[in-house]
Amino acid sequence: MKHFIDISDFNRKQLDAIIKKAKQLKKNPNKVSNKCHHKTLGMIFQKESTRTRVSFNVGFSKMGGNCIELNTSSIGFGERESHEDVLRALSQYIDVLMIRNDDHNILKNLSALNLIPIINGLSDYSHPCQILSDLLTITEKLGEIQNHKICWIGDYNNVLRSLIELQYIYNFKLNIVLPKEIVRKNKMKIIKNNNLSITSIIQDGVKSAHCVMTDAWISMGESSSKKRYFKNYQVNSDVMKNANRDAIFMHCLPAHRNEEVSSELLDSNHSVVWEQAQNRMFVQQAIILELLS
Ligand code: CP
Ligand code: NVA
Repeated sequence: MKHFIDISDFNRKQLDAIIKKAKQLKKNPNKVSNKCHHKTLGMIFQKESTRTRVSFNVGFSKMGGNCIELNTSSIGFGERESHEDVLRALSQYIDVLMIRNDDHNILKNLSALNLIPIINGLSDYSHPCQILSDLLTITEKLGEIQNHKICWIGDYNNVLRSLIELQYIYNFKLNIVLPKEIVRKNKMKIIKNNNLSITSIIQDGVKSAHCVMTDAWISMGESSSKKRYFKNYQVNSDVMKNANRDAIFMHCLPAHRNEEVSSELLDSNHSVVWEQAQNRMFVQQAIILELLS
């Protein structure tokens, strides 16, 4: 039984194969129109979602499958019965389950039961679907990621953890820019290597980067009290002037305009955020085909 819980569960060959499949799906979507016929994808969202919800649903439907979204309160997930018993019941009817929640350990425990494939649709710890589809976007826009410098500016959060796991596998240059209060709290958790650096000086991190990424300062479910640390860490056109001239700007979205990113940069030619969102669907289709194969 295979699951998609974290980038670090895979090796480069396996991730390359998913990206290759996603590229094929993007080029020729009709080739898989029947691959999930008579299959059902379940989705449980304990947090808000637009892209993940719609890209999984539409992507699975385009492969001929049915999708069922379960409202956590109407099934009493972990309350009416244990998470494990909900999964035991669901596995009698559905073929694959995507979960977005606030407790990564629950995802791990459920996948360990090996009843049906479980996909992490974002947890408090990581967001592997996002980062794998960002790899597709980077490959399309820039070429092989190993030859490029990526700069992350913002919080140490679920998306960054998956990005760091990707760096450990592909060994691309990754400069992480975190406010010093956030560095202090999290530095020990990030294992550095020759191509991974952490700084709190925005101009140092972004210098000659080919891709600049950010995300919300406050992730879903977090208190807004740490927002004050980020006031000098907005990504905008001035920041981008330090990057490579043709650098791309990425954001997993939703964006908070004029907080972590200026509205003008989000709408500029540097920004690839909408195609980045589109790529979620192809990569998730490829992940599902891999899990069901
Ligand atoms: N990037 C992302 O996961 O978007 P949603 O929260 O809208 O699903
Ligand atoms: N870090 C953000 C990502 C949203 C897709 C959050 O967890 O809210």
